[in-house]
Amino acid sequence: MTETIGFCQETRPENCGFVLFGATGDLAGRKIIPALFGLCSKKLAPKNFYLLFAGRTPLDRPEFESRLAAIIEKSEGGLSPDCFKDFLDRTEYLRADYESPEFYARLAERLAALGAKFGAPRKHLFYLATPPAAFGLITRELRDSGLLSPPGDRARWSRVIIEKPYGESLESACALEAGLKQAAAEEQIYRIDHFTGKETVQNVLALRSANSVFDETWNAGFIDHVQITVFEELGLEGRAAFFERMGLARDMMSHLLQLAAITAMDLPASFRDTDFKTEKKRFFESLKRPCGSQPGQAVRAQYDGYLAEPGVAAGSVTETFLAFKFCVDNARWRGVPFYVRAGKKTGLKRTSIDLVYKKPAHGAFKDMDTGPANIFSMNMQPAETVSFSLITKHPGPKLCFTKKTMGLDYREHAEEFAAPTDYERLLIDAMAGDRTLFLSPFEMRFMWEFLSPLLAAWQGAPAQDPLYRYRPGTPGPAEAAALIEKDGRAWL
Ligand SMILES: NC(=O)c1ccc[n+]([C@@H]2O[C@H](COP(=O)([O-])OP(=O)(O)OC[C@H]3O[C@@H](n4cnc5c(N)ncnc54)[C@H](OP(=O)(O)O)[C@@H]3O)[C@@H](O)[C@H]2O)c1
Repeated sequence: MTETIGFCQETRPENCGFVLFGATGDLAGRKIIPALFGLCSKKLAPKNFYLLFAGRTPLDRPEFESRLAAIIEKSEGGLSPDCFKDFLDRTEYLRADYESPEFYARLAERLAALGAKFGAPRKHLFYLATPPAAFGLITRELRDSGLLSPPGDRARWSRVIIEKPYGESLESACALEAGLKQAAAEEQIYRIDHFTGKETVQNVLALRSANSVFDETWNAGFIDHVQITVFEELGLEGRAAFFERMGLARDMMSHLLQLAAITAMDLPASFRDTDFKTEKKRFFESLKRPCGSQPGQAVRAQYDGYLAEPGVAAGSVTETFLAFKFCVDNARWRGVPFYVRAGKKTGLKRTSIDLVYKKPAHGAFKDMDTGPANIFSMNMQPAETVSFSLITKHPGPKLCFTKKTMGLDYREHAEEFAAPTDYERLLIDAMAGDRTLFLSPFEMRFMWEFLSPLLAAWQGAPAQDPLYRYRPGTPGPAEAAALIEKDGRAWL
């Protein structure tokens, strides 16, 4: 049994109603509905809580219930009958016509009835799990129908959650922001990137803050380079419509930048929203953009067989793999390269951040080979572990060295605490009005400013940055290995 020590803070969700638009979609089925069920079954949901799911697809009650059962049965936590009955009792489906004021009038009527029934009136979280093109329309209509209450009203609140990648280009993201801002105040908009809700990502900050042995050495004096890897074993899994439009770079860039920021930003004065976002912003402002400026600093590739996947266009040049290098121009990190890679069908599921230390250049062994450098690894998938590789004396009469790894498995005791999943955690925060882990408009814009030159180069001068190929089950193309090897380093 593990025990908490010292500081301990709990975010409690407020009683409220949760409205899910796009409830028949892929994201809703794979992530949001399982997370809502998880909150109920782990007893993390507010006491007075109800759900209204909306979609354009007509569904009668039996169809709706069997859809929900199928979704939850497939989810990680599975379906427990008692919780499912309670979940169904709290849930309604409403057929949506997003352009029609009558739909919003009906929505307001149902929310009033459910609010009265479950004792959670006039507090609403609206999750827009629709294509981004519908975000502006829905928020405007919510405002016009009086469902989006003005901020500052203590007796009621309404919040809107939108899902990355927030548009398909810098221009469309700015247009989307402008549309949202016409209807909602910034403090009502919650931009979700579910990586920030992962327990192990938050653990990076906990480790850095509570153990001076790590953060004090995370700088150019000690660290040789940093590697960030997000690999998936799977390919498209029926998501061709979404992925063909996005490609891996648009789909993953927000996640990759968030992992980089949480690892390398200076620690904020507090873990409150403003301090946290201020430090993250300072980090992003010092990040040097590699992309597109020099050919070969980023590698894009597609796995063999991608073109035969259902729903993929003939001759598609959508990338399924990306590797790039960037540097950070601040006192802490100047001269330390960050190597980042992400891909599908890479033969393994792996999300990790590795800090590779410099080799010691002093003492009795300074001119001798004492083995590999120390590596501090934080793994988010498949196992949630932290490890530190050390060089020690090999036991025995001779003076030789050997490598040992110290580690901890974060999940070993997590079940005891009914740890929330990433989406569950972020939904709790949104219900509590805590925006710390949600993205600012600056971060959304920065993501596109970082990525756009790369996308432009791929489109404008594809011969300079060609689409390479790799075999499924391998960690990307040879060119990705060359990207780091030309600096005298290797992927871990
Ligand atoms: N799927 C993912 O893994 C994923 C990953 C990252 C981000 N996202 C983001 O999450 C959001 C939802 O993604 P998704 O893949 O679930 O989208 P989706 O399947 O394309 O759409 C979700 C649902 O929205 C409704 N819809 C479709 N077109 C619409 C329109 N023009 N206006 C209003 N509703 C419409 C459809 O349901 P009805 O016809 O029943 O209304 C559809 O089932 C998007 O913003 C996407 O960028 C998704």
